[in-house]
Amino acid sequence: MPSVRGHLLGALLLLAPLSSAAPSRRAPKHATIVNRQWSNATYDFIIAGAGIAGLTLADRLTEDPNISVLVIEAGPFDWGQEGILVPGSYQPWWFFWPNLVTVPQEGLNNREIGAIAGQVVGGGSTINAMVYVRGDTSDYDDWGSLQEKPNMSWQKMLPYFLKSENFTAPDARFAAQNNITWNPAVRGSSGPLQYTYPPHSYPGGENWWNAANAVGLPAVEDPLAGNKAGVFAMPSVMDARTMTRSYAKINHYDRVSQARPNYHILPSNMVSRVIFKGNCKTVKGVEYLPTAGGDVVTAFATKEVIIAAGGFNTPKILQLSGVGPKPLLDKFGIKVISNLPGVGQNLQDQPTLTVPYTFTANAEPNTDSLVNNATYAAEQRALYETEKKGAFTVISTLGTNIAGVTLKAATPDFLDIISTARAANPADSLPADVDPTVLAGYTAQREAILSQYENGKSSVGNIHWGTGNNALVYHLKPLSRGSVNIVSTDPLANPAIDFRTATDPTDQAVYTALLRKNRELFATPEMQVFGPSEASPFAEAQTDEEIYALLRDQINPSNAHQCCTAAMLPRSLGGVVSAEQKVYGVGGLRVADISFWPFQTGGSPTGTMYAAAERLADMIKADHGISRN
Ligand SMILES: Cc1cc2nc3c(=O)[nH]c(=O)nc-3n(C[C@H](O)[C@H](O)[C@H](O)COP(=O)(O)OP(=O)(O)OC[C@H]3O[C@@H](n4cnc5c(N)ncnc54)[C@H](O)[C@@H]3O)c2cc1C
Ligand SMILES: *[C@@H]1O[C@H](CO)[C@@H](O)[C@H](O)[C@H]1NC(C)=O
Ligand SMILES: *[C@@H]1O[C@H](CO)[C@@H](O)[C@H](O)[C@H]1NC(C)=O
Ligand SMILES: *[C@@H]1O[C@H](CO)[C@@H](O)[C@H](O)[C@H]1NC(C)=O
Ligand SMILES: *[C@@H]1O[C@H](CO)[C@@H](O)[C@H](O)[C@H]1NC(C)=O
Ligand SMILES: *[C@@H]1O[C@H](CO)[C@@H](O)[C@H](O)[C@H]1NC(C)=O
Ligand SMILES: *[C@@H]1O[C@H](CO)[C@@H](O)[C@H](O)[C@H]1NC(C)=O
Repeated sequence: MPSVRGHLLGALLLLAPLSSAAPSRRAPKHATIVNRQWSNATYDFIIAGAGIAGLTLADRLTEDPNISVLVIEAGPFDWGQEGILVPGSYQPWWFFWPNLVTVPQEGLNNREIGAIAGQVVGGGSTINAMVYVRGDTSDYDDWGSLQEKPNMSWQKMLPYFLKSENFTAPDARFAAQNNITWNPAVRGSSGPLQYTYPPHSYPGGENWWNAANAVGLPAVEDPLAGNKAGVFAMPSVMDARTMTRSYAKINHYDRVSQARPNYHILPSNMVSRVIFKGNCKTVKGVEYLPTAGGDVVTAFATKEVIIAAGGFNTPKILQLSGVGPKPLLDKFGIKVISNLPGVGQNLQDQPTLTVPYTFTANAEPNTDSLVNNATYAAEQRALYETEKKGAFTVISTLGTNIAGVTLKAATPDFLDIISTARAANPADSLPADVDPTVLAGYTAQREAILSQYENGKSSVGNIHWGTGNNALVYHLKPLSRGSVNIVSTDPLANPAIDFRTATDPTDQAVYTALLRKNRELFATPEMQVFGPSEASPFAEAQTDEEIYALLRDQINPSNAHQCCTAAMLPRSLGGVVSAEQKVYGVGGLRVADISFWPFQTGGSPTGTMYAAAERLADMIKADHGISRN
């Protein structure tokens, strides 16, 4: 998309308020000459990646006017285009990271599948589907109990969820009519991230809600209270005043940029590696270069370098910096600074299955009407412009309800699935050459996750029907584990992405149960009134073996929730960062982004990322005696 890039550069010159630098630093006036002017500059903190974690940290650290922060971001600024701001006009592909594709997936008939990550100021928050659901209490409690000194739990995260967000309640009558309920005690009201509920629903959504109830998926009072098993209306990261996207560029950069000469951001440049002082044990700064290619230059950090580049790129930067598995680094002649076998391992996502339907009599309008019916689209657009209501307040193709499904709710055979998984050797689920510490970490996580499968509270899947021509079945808590490894020392080359989806047989059994649960839901009288049939090749797949074959052909390994490739675990469990998210074996280096998660939550990542970054900001401030407010 060369013309797009050209357009972006032009927009950048207008949008990026880069000129307010502290007097002691050389202040760039134009994004196009930032590189040369800024090289060799010194900051207190340098952050690699302006996604949710990177911008949240930059905002909080620059609250102290004496602290200088440079954020280096691979992507450009967006220019406020409608496909980003208006949910019903959703067009995420503007800012997809180019040319990301998996290696052939052995569990998925060797398919090579496109992988998605944001490359833009705001990262995933600029282009994501705006679904805002926290994980379950068990997720944060289990992350904590895997640490040497437990310091993470639902109770410890909750204040940071509240600090991060500002919930605006929907109109009371609309909420009552649409079963939108919440517990004010777990909803923040003073933080920068705005969220609410779309003031719109499609008629089919009510049938689906009642069908869910009929198959044992009860209404959830509040999906943000730490247990989301059952059916609920999806909160959306949208500013209720404008019904437009609330994303990290707005809530952690624009919101404060006028008053923060100490907050610098350099778009369209990639951090290529972290550099260390002579002793090789303490961080000195970073090297970076234009994302479009060009000279590598340097910036220095007196306090810390913080990597916040997302689940694919954080392990890449660490590996290129000599922080990673020694055999991999040796292969590319990279000097080993810290031999951490876990860097790039433990890759997980939340695989997605799109189930196509035909209907003899679907309700109109439905989520496809915006695309199929120009009259409807025009009406709804006018409603959005005048009253900030209607279908344009909902991400296009999605509906407004979703259901979290526990394994117990998915299948009466859930205990058999769990006992089969417990009887298996965890080593069989990982590549033969796995490092013993990584295997030990996987074994520990696996036991925690299997306990969640058993507890009847933690969701293992989500099912969703937007009301149009497909349903979505998500696997939230897979046991399969993949990897992200560099394939060259070229900082612009993408790493090898291997999700290894569905290589653990438990995942096939769980996914099969979730697909059958979706079928049970569509078989209820509430849904049968629309005359739904699964389209080919889904309809033909009935036996376990047929469904396994279908899954190998149809699963998308990712929902763009890739995580866990620099896990917060003890070093003896293949961990990369400590409970304070400090990289083992070096001083002054942390990992802030979703890579630090030990394993997936039962939610979608956004809420947890904002809150985790708020928490990390407090830990960093405490370490450096920086004032907190
Ligand atoms: C299309 C899409 C839809 C999604 N839908 C949802 C949803 O509905 N709900 C939900 O909760 N989550 C959703 N997600 C996931 C969610 O947005 C991410 O999990 C979240 O943004 C992760 O935050 P992060 O801070 O870890 O990293 P990110 O927000 O991904 O930010 C990482 C940033 O680092 C930059 N970067 C990478 N490498 C370098 C480098 N070498 N140098 C400098 N910068 C670099 C990237 O360009 C990016 O801007 C979606 C994601 C995508 C892409
Ligand atoms: C940065 O420092 C290096 C090494 O001292 C020097 O060669 C280079 O010219 C400097 N660049 C700028 C733009 O000052
Ligand atoms: C910033 O530094 C100056 C000079 O050292 C000091 O007087 C001032 O109190 C500091 N401000 C804050 C907010 O720490
Ligand atoms: C929270 O949202 C309300 C209504 O949308 C708004 O009036 C208020 O200013 C917001 N507060 C913050 C801190 O953003
Ligand atoms: C809300 O839930 C009730 C059952 O508690 C159900 O009768 C009603 O149809 C639901 N309404 C919608 C819009 O889902
Ligand atoms: C298209 O939308 C219009 C306006 O809402 C409606 O009157 C019409 O019935 C719709 N057409 C179809 C085929 O659903
Ligand atoms: C525990 O985490 C908090 C932040 O939630 C931090 O301030 C504190 O220093 C941590 N304590 C230990 C012992 O790690």
